[in-house]
Amino acid sequence: MQRSGGASKAVAVGFLVAGLVSCTGQAARQRHYPFQDASRPIAARVEDLLGRMSLPQKIAQMVLVERNTASPEDVGSVGLGGVLSAGGSAPDPNTAANWAQMVDGYQKAALQGPLPVPILYGTDAVHGHNNLVGATLFPHQIGLGATRDPALVQRVEQATAQELAGTGPRWDFAPCVCVVRDARWGRTYESFGEDPRLVTSMGSAAIEGLQGANVLATAKHYLGDGGTTGGTDQGNTQLTEAQLRAIHLPPFRAAVDQNVASVMISYSSWNGAKLHGDRHLIQDVLKGELGFKGFVVSDFDGIQQMDGQRGLTATEVSAAVNAGIDMAMLSDDWRSFIDLLSAEVGKGHVPLARINDAVRRILTQKFRFGLFEHPYTDRSLASTIGSPQHRELARQAVRESAVLLKNDGRVLPLPKTGGKIFVAGDNADDIGNQSGGWSVTWQGHSGPITRGTTILAGIRGAVAGQTTVTYNRGGNGLDSSYRAAIAVVGERPYAEGRGDSPSGVRLADSDTAMLNRLSAAGVPLIVVLVSGRPMDVHEQLPSWRALLAAWLPGTEGEGVADVLFGDYNPTGRLPLSWPATAIQEPMNAGKGRTPLFLNGYGLSF
Ligand code: GLC
Repeated sequence: MQRSGGASKAVAVGFLVAGLVSCTGQAARQRHYPFQDASRPIAARVEDLLGRMSLPQKIAQMVLVERNTASPEDVGSVGLGGVLSAGGSAPDPNTAANWAQMVDGYQKAALQGPLPVPILYGTDAVHGHNNLVGATLFPHQIGLGATRDPALVQRVEQATAQELAGTGPRWDFAPCVCVVRDARWGRTYESFGEDPRLVTSMGSAAIEGLQGANVLATAKHYLGDGGTTGGTDQGNTQLTEAQLRAIHLPPFRAAVDQNVASVMISYSSWNGAKLHGDRHLIQDVLKGELGFKGFVVSDFDGIQQMDGQRGLTATEVSAAVNAGIDMAMLSDDWRSFIDLLSAEVGKGHVPLARINDAVRRILTQKFRFGLFEHPYTDRSLASTIGSPQHRELARQAVRESAVLLKNDGRVLPLPKTGGKIFVAGDNADDIGNQSGGWSVTWQGHSGPITRGTTILAGIRGAVAGQTTVTYNRGGNGLDSSYRAAIAVVGERPYAEGRGDSPSGVRLADSDTAMLNRLSAAGVPLIVVLVSGRPMDVHEQLPSWRALLAAWLPGTEGEGVADVLFGDYNPTGRLPLSWPATAIQEPMNAGKGRTPLFLNGYGLSF
C-alpha cells in the first residue's frame, strides 16, 4: 500500500522516537554489571551477582521447568534457572531450526528479565541428540560398554554434544553411570554394565567428551539405581553402606574428580529411604567427602514423590533442599515449589545459607560454561547434525559394540558372494526397533521414526556378485536353496519402568516359533539379537549356528552387517553376565550361579 508524502514523514519520526525509547530501555537493561566482566574470576562474578539477587530471584534460579509448563514470559518474569525438554518433548515441527528458535526464545526472555541471567536448557541426549528427528543415534550405553573403548565413547559424546548444542541445549542429562546388577531392570541398556570399573572408565570418557565440547554433563542417578531388589525401576536398593559404596559409588567419585557439572538424584530408595531426601549421601558423602562442586538436580518431579503421594508438600521441599538438592526438576508444580520453599525459608526450616550455596553452585556452572558470554545457539554446529562423519563414527561404534557369542563351524563371517541369503525377524528392517527407547519419543516406537540404515539395508549393501537377499519378516519361505538364514529378533522399544521384566527376559513366543521353523529348514541359522539386555536363549541356542548380540545399535545398522560379512572382526565383550535362565537374575550377585556367558565374554573370527 502506497503512503502519501506527509504521512511517510510522520511515520519516519515515529520510528526514530520509538528507536530512541527502546535504546534507552535496552541501555538500562544492558547496564554493565561486574558479574558480566568475563575477565573477573568466576567466584567473584558469582558473589557479585548473588549479592544483587533477592530471595525470590535466588529461589527461582533453583527451578528447572519442563518446557510445556512454562512460557518464555514465565521464565523471564520470574527468573527461572533452567528449562528442560523431557523425553520426546520437542517443538513441532521437530527440526534443528525449530529447536534453536525455541531454546533461544527462552534465553532471550531470561536475559531481558530484571537481572540478565541466562538459563540452562537441558535434555536427555543419551545416545545422540535422540529427541531430534534426523540426529545421529549412537548405540545405547550397554553397547558402548561392550566396546571397552573409552576413546571411542569420548568421541561419541563429543559428537553428541555438537549435535545437541547446534540446536540450543547446552546441558545433557547424561551419562547414566548406573551400575546394573539385575538385567530385569528396564533401564539396563542405559548402563555401561555390571562392573563398577567398566562404568567408571566409560562414564569418565563420556563426561570428558561432553564437557570438552562445552556441554554440561550430568552423572546420574545418584545413588544405587541399578541395584534395586528384583531390578525394579525406582525401587529399593537393599545393601549395607559398604556394599553401596563398593558397587555404586566409584563412577560418581570419578565423575566428581573430573569436575562433572551436575549430578542427578535417583528416584530409588536405599534401605527404604528415598534418595531425594538422603542428606547423608548427598550433603555428607557427595558434597562433603567426595568434594562435589557442581550442582545437584532432582529427577523429574522426584521431590513430589518422596512421600509416595501426588502433589508437593512443604515437608518434601525442605527435606529435599536441606538434603542438598540445588535444582528442582519440575513440571506442573513449579509455582508451588517456589511458594513452599519461600515459606520454608521464612519459617527458618531451610537456612538462607543453603539457598545461597545452591544458587552459587548453579551460577558457577553457568559462568564456567560461558553461558553469560555465549547464551544463544551456535548455529554453525547445525551442519554436524546427522552428518556423514557422525554417522561413520556411529557405524564404528556399532561394529565395536557387537558381541559374538557363538560361531559354530566358523559360519561367520559370511562370504559376500555365493548363493542366496534369507533374512527374517521384526528387528531386521526397523529403525525404531534397532534404536530402542529414548528415540524421538520417550518410549521409542517401531517403524521409520528417523533417518538411518536398517540392519537389512546393511546386509543388502554388503553382499556382492550374484548374491541376492530375500527378506520375510515372519520367516516364511526359507528352503534349502538358501546358503544361510539371518534372523534379527529381540526386544521392542521401551524406557524406564515400562521395561521392567520381573519374571525374566525372554524372546516373544512368535519369535521363538519363527526361529524353530527356520532352524528346521536345514540351513545354517545366524541369530542377531537386537535388545537392551541379555535374553534367555539357552533352550534354542543349540539349534543356532551363530549368535551375535547387537544390543540397540541406533541409526547405523550397517555396522552389524560389517561384522556379519567380515568387514570388521568382532572385538565386543559382554558388559554384564548373560544368565543361563531368565530366573537366574540377579546374575552377578555371586551366590555360585553359573551364567550362560560370563561378563567379559566374546569371540572373534
Ligand atoms: C526421567 C529420568 C531421567 C531423565 C529425566 C528428564 O524420568 O529418570 O533419567 O533425565 O526424567 O527426562
